[in-house]
Amino acid sequence: MAVVEVNHPLVNHKLTILRDKDTDTKDFRENLNEIAKLMVYEATKDLKLKEVEVCTPLMKTIGYSLQEKAIAIVPILRAGLGMVEGIISLIPTAKIGHIGVYRDEETLNPVYYYCKLPKDISERRVVLVDPMLATGGSAIYAVDYLKKAGVKNIVFMCLVAAPEGIAKLVEKHPDVNIYVAKIDTGLDENGYIYPGLGDCGDRIFGTK
Ligand code: PRP
Ligand code: URA
Repeated sequence: MAVVEVNHPLVNHKLTILRDKDTDTKDFRENLNEIAKLMVYEATKDLKLKEVEVCTPLMKTIGYSLQEKAIAIVPILRAGLGMVEGIISLIPTAKIGHIGVYRDEETLNPVYYYCKLPKDISERRVVLVDPMLATGGSAIYAVDYLKKAGVKNIVFMCLVAAPEGIAKLVEKHPDVNIYVAKIDTGLDENGYIYPGLGDCGDRIFGTK
């Protein structure tokens, strides 16, 4: 198990734009996707490759290509959708699954409402994405679900995480590596990450 905080100047710069309460929906979406693109580069650095022969203008040589069923991206709806475009701009052949889980506002427990996964999901490395890891309930639910579907190799990628959520996810699923742009201070009395960036889904989709 590894928890990797992606401490890169470009990520930190863009994350600060997302934190700003005056950033509008357009800039929020753009910067979120750009961070996702930068982070997935890090989260896939141990992907398996196969050797392939390639002809350069000068000669034949050996190159490398991603294995056919290398990867699937699974956003946790809704907010995870805000990271997909950035990731597929780098890995356009990835298949995409969706898992719908929202957090009950009173209990903070995850509530499941939808799932559609690629048929061969169990043969793929899954990059599970959700910008926010707060109590950890939603991510743990999604990982449980993917494991029941036969997935053996899962990486969780998020933007901002509370230490409490990381500890819970690590305890329940120690085999899942976590890539996070920034580990924040904690959770407030409503279960929001602070300093955080507010309600990420609302900020992506302009629903507030
Ligand atoms: C947010 C966020 C995570 C979850 C994190 O989703 O995108 O899925 O809360 O909280 P947790 O770690 O305590 O479970 P939300 O329930 O607001 O749904 P939305 O994405 O549809 O807005
Ligand atoms: N979900 C969000 O969108 N933001 C938080 O701070 C916590 C959960």
